[in-house]
Formats: sequence, C-alpha cells, structure tokens
Amino acid sequence: MKLPIYLYGHPVLRNISEPLAQDYQGLGDLISRMFEAMYESEGVGLAAPQIGLNIRLVVIDADPVSDAFADCAGKKMVLINPEIEILEGDKISRSEGCLSLPGISENVPRVEHIRLKYLDENFQAHDEEISGFLARIVQHECDHLEGKMFIDHISAIRKQLIRNKLANIASGKIRVDYPVKFAPTARRK
Ligand code: NI
Repeated sequence: MKLPIYLYGHPVLRNISEPLAQDYQGLGDLISRMFEAMYESEGVGLAAPQIGLNIRLVVIDADPVSDAFADCAGKKMVLINPEIEILEGDKISRSEGCLSLPGISENVPRVEHIRLKYLDENFQAHDEEISGFLARIVQHECDHLEGKMFIDHISAIRKQLIRNKLANIASGKIRVDYPVKFAPTARRK
C-alpha cells in the first residue's frame, strides 16, 4: 500500500518530532516508500510527520524544479536529524505549497542561505552551506519536524483569506488526487 499523506488538521503535523536512532527498524524501506509517496504526489520534499511518523526524517528531490531554479539540479537528499543555522538575515518571499495543504500556495518569507548539518541514509554526517530555492525547501521540510507549516509564516490577513480553504481541508471537504489521510475529526477518513 502506498503511504498516504497526512493533511492539515491532523495532530501528528503539530507535534515536535523525536530524533531518529541508527537502529530504527526498516529505515531503508521507509525512506524508499517516502520517496515513492513524494513522487506520486509530485512534491519535491516530504517530512516524516506528513506520513504520520513523528521522527526527524526528511526526503528531498529538488531536481523537478531545476528548470526554474538551476541550483536544484540533481539535488536528492535524505536528512536525518537535520539542524539548520541561519547564515543571512534578509528574507525573500516566494510561493510555497505543501502536500499536507493541497490547493494552497502562499508567499513565504525565508532566508536565502543556511548551514545544514545532517546525517544521510547511511548515518554519515554532513555539514553544508546551502542557498537559493534548495535552502527554502530544506527550511520548509525541517519546519515540519518542529510541528510547523508554511501557513505559520504568513500574515494574519493572508491567513484570514485562506481560512475557508484550511477549514475544508481539516474537515475532509476536498478532493485530492494522491493518497491522503484526513484529520481524525474530519467527516471522511
Ligand atoms: Ni510541507
């Protein structure tokens, strides 16, 4: 069975996730299935809370957006226990979407340069400086590990304008063309 994407309104998206241990059972298989779910839903990143697991694990494949953002070419990553350090204070706003918020995209202000420390799928340590759109994807996905979503970064006015859309997702009143899991309180499951 394909992994469903948990949608806005599900409490698992609002928890702070736990560090991932090296002896985590079935990690390789889980990572493969996360990539599969991400490709199925045409996303460029997926964090474990979005498949219902509060562990600090992220998969990214930014290559599909490399036509618009050249720095994303060939960037396929697995991030275990990632840590972000902000390198530059200036924030730039760009449109973002999220597989857990189907049908919503908003301009989100984020810094352009970060330092990223993480373990890869073989638990090898990396320490890299990342810029541009890839840095945005990494920040978006790492937010999920803190129980945050991109709508937490938009203005109160913008949030008011998408209030009905958010309510429809949370209550199961939308159609999504990839496997999803609605909030326990939604009418559909
Ligand atoms: Ni997201």
